[in-house]
Amino acid sequence: MANDFDRRTFLKRSGAAALMSAPAFVSARGANDKVTIGWIGVGTRGNAGLGWLKEAAGDKVQVTAVCDTYQGYIARAKDRVQTLYGNTPATYVDYHDLLKDKSIDAVFIMTPEHLHHSMTLAALAAGKHVYIEKPLAHTIEEGAEIVKAWQKSGKVVQVGTQNRSSSLYKKAKEMVDKGMIGDCHYVRAFWYRNSPNNDPAWRYVIPGDTNEQNTDWNRFLGPAKKRPFDKHRYFQWRLYWDYSGGISTDLLVHQTDITNFVMSKTVPSTCVASGGIYRWVGKDDDREVPDTLSAIYEYPNRFHINYSCYFGNDHFGYGEQFCGNEGTIEVLNRQDLYFSPELLRGKASEEVKARAPIHLNGRKDFNENDGAINHFRNFIEAVLGQAQVIAPPTVGQQAAISGHMATLAYKSGKKVQWDERTEKVRFL
Ligand SMILES: NC(=O)c1ccc[n+]([C@@H]2O[C@H](COP(=O)([O-])OP(=O)(O)OC[C@H]3O[C@@H](n4cnc5c(N)ncnc54)[C@H](O)[C@@H]3O)[C@@H](O)[C@H]2O)c1
Repeated sequence: MANDFDRRTFLKRSGAAALMSAPAFVSARGANDKVTIGWIGVGTRGNAGLGWLKEAAGDKVQVTAVCDTYQGYIARAKDRVQTLYGNTPATYVDYHDLLKDKSIDAVFIMTPEHLHHSMTLAALAAGKHVYIEKPLAHTIEEGAEIVKAWQKSGKVVQVGTQNRSSSLYKKAKEMVDKGMIGDCHYVRAFWYRNSPNNDPAWRYVIPGDTNEQNTDWNRFLGPAKKRPFDKHRYFQWRLYWDYSGGISTDLLVHQTDITNFVMSKTVPSTCVASGGIYRWVGKDDDREVPDTLSAIYEYPNRFHINYSCYFGNDHFGYGEQFCGNEGTIEVLNRQDLYFSPELLRGKASEEVKARAPIHLNGRKDFNENDGAINHFRNFIEAVLGQAQVIAPPTVGQQAAISGHMATLAYKSGKKVQWDERTEKVRFL
């Protein structure tokens, strides 16, 4: 491609092309043109993501800028980009400054939940393609605004519900679509974790040098309520409602999302939820989100999800169990898939009896078993007009709605109903 203007025009069009599934511009692209990336949020996920992107599409991308509000992570990311991508990225504390850089094609946003809305809207307004981590946004209303902005933008947006890109879950979907478990009205999903008494969940280690000067507290707070500097809130934001929905939007959304994917569902009609703070209670414990949560969902057309999460025992680990009238598919720990036919104590039909049990292991049976890497590759291919994203904002919003419904039901103690017409919840 002759010059930067042509390249930019190509990438601008390719967003719209991806939406229309018309990768017609690909052949016009120069072999050396890379998709330039700005990375906003290089904490735990962002730091890991820099490596996954290299693995997913290293020959097609260049990370040219990083942004974070903690100086220690900016320095770490700069080093990592130099090592992985061979260039020195520009560094920013204010993401608006990164977005002003017209040479950046796409941004990865890996910041706390309460910042997703403002950052995604600003990135789209600046003409960038966006990979936004889950949950799509901190509230249902914010998510709906993102969906609208994306629909107007012609840009590619991928939401970080990466299980959709995992070969194991794709296999589960294929098996359900083929009818291997018969009719399925019921899914159990769970996420159990445990850690020692002196290492509470989500009380992540706070870097020793942390102070008000090297963390930009006001930029961290963004649209959240103003408060005095608090390093716990900064590094352990998942424990506080202002920045996180806790289990509901951090963990549960992955599982309602993948249930939607495997079972071809969208949004539940009702949710009841219950739980509490049971573990690690003490006088210095100021966390707000529960460590124990159960949520029950009813979907239209006789479909039910029974969800549970507890941070005090991890014997059962992580999983989804798709319980059909003729068989069960379990995906456990994102690593193993089991299919078992329902034999009905010998009374099953010959057809069902003939379905042999199956065990697939993510590592052993698939070349590409890592959802995150596949998900990143899918995003870059979509930016290049070679694919459609598997988790656009509409899908991210559907998963997020179920998470927010669980939070609202837990906090209110009421059954929450989703009204498809008004796109709002009602408390019953
Ligand atoms: N898809 C998954 O499986 C998965 C897994 C883990 C985390 N996540 C998501 O990734 C996101 C980040 O989570 P994390 O665990 O990396 O959190 P983290 O706290 O480790 O990282 C967040 C980073 O954002 C930075 N930051 C805060 N305010 C900022 C601002 N205004 N501008 C720029 N940077 C800012 C922080 O300094 C920090 O480096 C969350 O949305 C989380 O839900 C997704």
